[in-house]
Amino acid sequence: MINTEIINWYEFNKRDLPWRNTSDPYKIWISEIMLQQTQVVTVIDYYHRFLNSFPTINALASADEQEVLNLWQGLGYYSRARNLHQAAKSIEDNYNGVFPTTFDEILKLKGIGVYTASAIAAFAFHLPQAAVDGNVYRVLSRLFGVSEPTNSPKGKREFQALADELMADAPPHVYNQAIIEFGALQCTAKNPNCEACPIQANCFAYINKQQSVFPVKKKKVKVTDRYFYYLLISGDEKFLMQQRGDKDIWRKMFEFPLIETQNKIELVDLIKSESWQSLFKGLDVKVREHIVSKVHKLSHQNLYIEFIHIDANTEVLMERTDLILIDKEEASGYPMPKPIEAHLKQE
Ligand code: ADE
Repeated sequence: MINTEIINWYEFNKRDLPWRNTSDPYKIWISEIMLQQTQVVTVIDYYHRFLNSFPTINALASADEQEVLNLWQGLGYYSRARNLHQAAKSIEDNYNGVFPTTFDEILKLKGIGVYTASAIAAFAFHLPQAAVDGNVYRVLSRLFGVSEPTNSPKGKREFQALADELMADAPPHVYNQAIIEFGALQCTAKNPNCEACPIQANCFAYINKQQSVFPVKKKKVKVTDRYFYYLLISGDEKFLMQQRGDKDIWRKMFEFPLIETQNKIELVDLIKSESWQSLFKGLDVKVREHIVSKVHKLSHQNLYIEFIHIDANTEVLMERTDLILIDKEEASGYPMPKPIEAHLKQE
């Protein structure tokens, strides 16, 4: 059985870590919160100091928030400390100071997600919850060759099911520590020690030499903000328009003359901008209306669009630019981006 192999490996290779010698849910909770974004070696000192100052839930709940934050100094991600403090207070208020004993109740505490609730349920109460952290994602994805991303909702469900299945009847407190430790020391992200691995014969990644392929993570795409100021120049019946290029969104579609900026800009500053001044140079220009549209979301971009209705001499502008005059009635013959179409409809 693979779970037995991992547990055997653990018994032989495990580090002696302070939170492994206790079944006190409070101590396990503190350790798991500290371990969320911080390495084991750093956590050990903080763990001892924190528990010396606040040995019980009651001590933590009665502390001043500043005291708690001071002890957290240097660990970073201070919301972890604030959440701990608030959750300790709610355990005092709602559970008479006794740490809740079911997975569902633990999960309700502030700052505790599925992983941490599972870890506490398993380590403190020996409940059959498989705790899936980054180490476990790595082990399972390599072992079974799971190419579903670990950070997609489908991936999370798939890995949780696999972890539950692999745990089977093994003692949850031992099995969970074992597979986490196995990921941390043996099945490492870089240079995993496959040659000395007890489950290499079962391992999809080892057999196919694909250790570096797993775990698969979906890249979080960065969403950029863009600010579009569309100029609706002259008349209620005709508008100056231009065709977009072929390198950006809305390829080759038709739009109003556009000034785009990287940051939000007020109308007074837009009017002073070089783009505005060079378009309207020397012309008598009057802003008639200014409409701020709701944000238009594309998959990787947020477009903040404003429409500025302007009176100006269209003939002069057409002579000096590539702008064309389009009759509102004819507009449907030109492909236009959705927000522009919507704006014209509203007119
Ligand atoms: N990382 C998260 N939980 C851990 C634990 N209980 N032991 C070692 N590393 C961990």
